[in-house]
Amino acid sequence: KLMKVFLTRRIPPEGMKILSAAGVCEVSQWDSDEPVQRADLLKGVQGAHGLLCLLSDKIDAEVLDAAGPNLKVISTLSVGYDHLAIDEIKKRGILVGYTPDVLTDATAELTVALLLATARRLPEGVEEVKNGGWSSWKPLWLCGYGLSGSTVGVIGLGRIGMAIARRVMPFVVKRLLYSGRTAKDYAAEVNGEYVPLDTLVSESDFIVVSCSLTPETQGMCDKAFFSKMKNTGVFVNSSRGTVVNQEDLYEALSSGQIASAGLDVTTPEPLPTNHPLLTLKNCVVLPHIGSATYSTRGIMGALSAQNLLGGLQGTDMPSELTF
Ligand code: GLV
Ligand code: GLV
Repeated sequence: KLMKVFLTRRIPPEGMKILSAAGVCEVSQWDSDEPVQRADLLKGVQGAHGLLCLLSDKIDAEVLDAAGPNLKVISTLSVGYDHLAIDEIKKRGILVGYTPDVLTDATAELTVALLLATARRLPEGVEEVKNGGWSSWKPLWLCGYGLSGSTVGVIGLGRIGMAIARRVMPFVVKRLLYSGRTAKDYAAEVNGEYVPLDTLVSESDFIVVSCSLTPETQGMCDKAFFSKMKNTGVFVNSSRGTVVNQEDLYEALSSGQIASAGLDVTTPEPLPTNHPLLTLKNCVVLPHIGSATYSTRGIMGALSAQNLLGGLQGTDMPSELTF
């Protein structure tokens, strides 16, 4: 008898191929590129043995209860799993798969691109070319900040943080600071100096947030944080939006407390088009595209399908989240 799986969205074809080739499950799917509504999610999971979801789906006790006792595995097409109620999942003995490693390079590249775009004011420059603001080569116009000789601080030197550090070092960075729960042996490769968060914040010219969202990091970048930053400081976040207090960030950007910010993640997502942050020239906001290369998304699709199948069949899950 085929096992039932529910997919909360259209996923890359690489994943669909693996699911159909396996021949062990009956797939039902929210067949759209737009998010499933809560009511449709609660209905869709009923009786499912497997659930393949995205970071935009909140999987909590209500969803697990709606699914019922068949549910054996949840496979998320993401590295982050803050959208999953891990305690509830654990209580019910459900397996979890996720997609670490395969998106590290793509996300690090995007983060460095965002850092440079923010520091060197690329979106503003593009806009000026289009709107006729470009009147001449002007010595004092559209100046920003460069990485050469600078101090870069990475908050959370995990897989992605380390990949970012490796990529910024060739820009002739002078010091690479990092903070987090523990010092990392592998930081030696990038001459990383483990420092307290306060030191990182006050000494860095560029701050890159690359930690996971936990109760500790939620709201970590707040008024006190920004007030310790240099006035020339550039802030970049590609982790989760709620690590940042956006009202405090708005205040820091509009008052000149810090130079600029680049965000690939916001609260909420999507950020409403009338959000105050979007009125600021020194704030570059991207629509959460860290892992968005064709090849990475294909591999994430395949891996999430393999995790789902492994969990359903009680065989190996290539990337099982252990908790
Ligand atoms: C992206 O933010 C992810 O968690 O995969
Ligand atoms: C810039 O294009 C320069 O020649 O200085």
